[in-house]
Amino acid sequence: MNIRTKLTVFYGSLLTAVVVLASGALYLTERRLLLTELENARHSLFAGFSQTCRDALLVRDELSAINAALSVGKIMGVQGAFCVDPTGRVVAHSDPARRGTRYTAPPTTFVPLKGGGRQGRWVDPTDGELLAFIKDFSVGANAPAQAVVVFSQKSFQETVTKTLVGVAKRILIVFSMAWAAGLVGTVILARRLTRPIFYITAGTHQLAQGNLTHRIDWKGKDELGRLAADFNVMAERLGELDQMKNDFVSNVTHELRSPLSAIESYANLVTEDWSNGRSHNLVDYLTIVRNNATRLRKFVTDILDLSKIDAASVEMEKERFDLGVLFQEVVDLFQAKAREKNIRLGAELPSSVSVFADMDKVRQILTNLLGNALKFTPPGGEVTLSAEPAVRREGAGGRFTRITVADNGPGILDKDQQRIFDRFEQVKEMRETVEGQKGTGLGLAIVRQLVTAHGGQIGLVSAVGRGSAFSVYLPEGEAHVR
Ligand SMILES: Nc1ncnc2c1ncn2[C@@H]1O[C@H](COP(=O)(O)OP(=O)(O)OP(=O)(O)O)[C@@H](O)[C@H]1O
Ligand SMILES: [Mg+2]
Repeated sequence: MNIRTKLTVFYGSLLTAVVVLASGALYLTERRLLLTELENARHSLFAGFSQTCRDALLVRDELSAINAALSVGKIMGVQGAFCVDPTGRVVAHSDPARRGTRYTAPPTTFVPLKGGGRQGRWVDPTDGELLAFIKDFSVGANAPAQAVVVFSQKSFQETVTKTLVGVAKRILIVFSMAWAAGLVGTVILARRLTRPIFYITAGTHQLAQGNLTHRIDWKGKDELGRLAADFNVMAERLGELDQMKNDFVSNVTHELRSPLSAIESYANLVTEDWSNGRSHNLVDYLTIVRNNATRLRKFVTDILDLSKIDAASVEMEKERFDLGVLFQEVVDLFQAKAREKNIRLGAELPSSVSVFADMDKVRQILTNLLGNALKFTPPGGEVTLSAEPAVRREGAGGRFTRITVADNGPGILDKDQQRIFDRFEQVKEMRETVEGQKGTGLGLAIVRQLVTAHGGQIGLVSAVGRGSAFSVYLPEGEAHVR
């Protein structure tokens, strides 16, 4: 059973239960009101008649007692009404034939009547159950006179039943209409509530089938609307990730294939030349083979580094250390290359600037940034490595040391400044200017991952034609040492 049917059945049953209970309660209330009303009507009828009877006997006006008895006797449910004088003679009766007869008390015991008088019930063989209201009153004689009204319970019941059938019919019509309208409302409500769920289910199914371009066409301000919007964002992200995965695979394949084919071709040439006794090109060929093998090794190392940092399985051995020694080491490492390219390479370091980090990883960060600066800065340029202690970063707690690698090279266009930190992203025109190993565009991605793994941040300030400054913020040593 789907959600829509379940909702319809649930709300339909609820509605039915409410309608049945409400109509039942209304019927019972109506019935109680009716009974009370009829009961009150009988009491006031009797009170009026007994008063008339008493007045008539007091002034010996039998005629008005007779008229009163006749008119009360015509009222529905009244079996008889009569006045009895102190001698026991019936002076007025709703049945004129019984006027002047002697009154005989009905065969029952009486109980007090609310509002004065007494009442008693008995069953008559022809008229069924009867109820008599009797009131004694004094008209000056020794014995009391009496006013009596006898009601037929059978006709009382008939009146009640007839009225209640009418009430029940009206209740049935009104509540059936309400029930039908409620049922239609339930179906509409269930459809409205479940429509977004249908869209979302269909969308999820499409996604599960691998259709990452599917979007849910549903807008709403409630939770389901937000769910649909989030679903679309998620599908968008999955699409991007899928695209990234495809790009990654094709980049990796390309980066593996090109040095391998170069190695293969030049190894073939070496074999051929060697067997044909030609040896003058062998050193050049083997140099190419070695360079490609180096490129391949660097690439495989970079990819492994990236995947390790991604999986957070990179081991960090954080310690507090002074940057001075490390700066000297990396500057020495790159000095030869800088001289070769006629680039001035220097380090500016105020005394005792420290960081709390993994020294090997910081070395890797600096090597990548300095390697880039020397690679892209043209001859005659300048590359500076500097550090600054105790910088506060917005939105980050603690104090940070800022390490900057600045050059006065070509600079980077604004539009490229974000993406070069992503894998395999390079500035194409810049790549062409590089002599020798052109790289694969993984260096900055590794740097960013390493910095993030330290809880730090990386920033870039660059202007085309003026140069670039890459700044790395790492936790300051002091902040972490007691
Ligand atoms: N100092 C710089 N000056 C100008 N452009 C730079 C500089 N550093 C990086 N870039 C640009 O950013 C791109 C990405 O750098 P990244 O270090 O990730 O890759 P790469 O150096 O090309 O290759 P790899 O580092 O994998 O050997 C570079 O290709 C270059 O276009
Ligand atoms: Mg690089």
